[in-house]
Amino acid sequence: MKGLSGKVAIVTGAGTGIGQGIAKRLGAEGVKVIVDYVGPSEGAEETQRAIRQAGGEAEIVQADITSSKDVTRLVDTAWQRFGAADILVNNAGVEHKSAFWETEESEYDKVMGVNLRGPFFLTQAFVRRLLNGKKPGRIVNISSVHEDMAFPGFTTYCCSKGGLRMFSHNLAVELGPLGITINNVAPGAIVTPINKALLTDKAKLDELLPKIPLGRLGTTDDVAGLVAFLACDDASYITGATFVVDGGLMRNYHEQ
Ligand code: BGC
Repeated sequence: MKGLSGKVAIVTGAGTGIGQGIAKRLGAEGVKVIVDYVGPSEGAEETQRAIRQAGGEAEIVQADITSSKDVTRLVDTAWQRFGAADILVNNAGVEHKSAFWETEESEYDKVMGVNLRGPFFLTQAFVRRLLNGKKPGRIVNISSVHEDMAFPGFTTYCCSKGGLRMFSHNLAVELGPLGITINNVAPGAIVTPINKALLTDKAKLDELLPKIPLGRLGTTDDVAGLVAFLACDDASYITGATFVVDGGLMRNYHEQ
């Protein structure tokens, strides 16, 4: 894709699921990738191996985006290792199912911490660096159809994604004059580990699939292609938008 080769991207949560797909896709487009992960390192190593095998460059950083210290180190590593970064993909996310009246403070803090606080301060650190270097940049947030659509039992998740939606709207206005674009990608039901409970429950799947007009779950590649596009030169006039990748799920309320 136009203008991607030689750029540098930071991708959070790049050792698994959608983040891993995005990192591999950007790597295949010639982007040098900072592969952020928390938890076990195998996934991040696999991401790095795949990018290197395709002839690209990737550096692994273990950083918990809810920690300010880790966020600073993550951004610093990009500048130290590759001289700068051009693209930030706020992908890392968690969800937790509980009835609203049973949700505990620790669950709320975890979901809001990873899904909203993390992108907030990581984007701030990234933007400060761009400002210092007077450089333009691209920010892509991996949100969810649930930035708009209700998801009973997942109120913390919906609040975090709704927040990410306004984060992107607001920053499109505030960062536009600096030449920095920000957009959200809103996946629906994608085959990834976050969906394990759904993917291993045949009854739940049988109920969901007929609601998806395209008749299948999405893949990480379905999401990664759009992220690469939003980071490339052809998307330079696009900011403050959400792009839904859900096979039509969100549009599909109808009476039989
Ligand atoms: C959630 C999944 C859910 C999907 C569709 C995603 O944002 O992470 O758990 O299946 O939305 O509802």
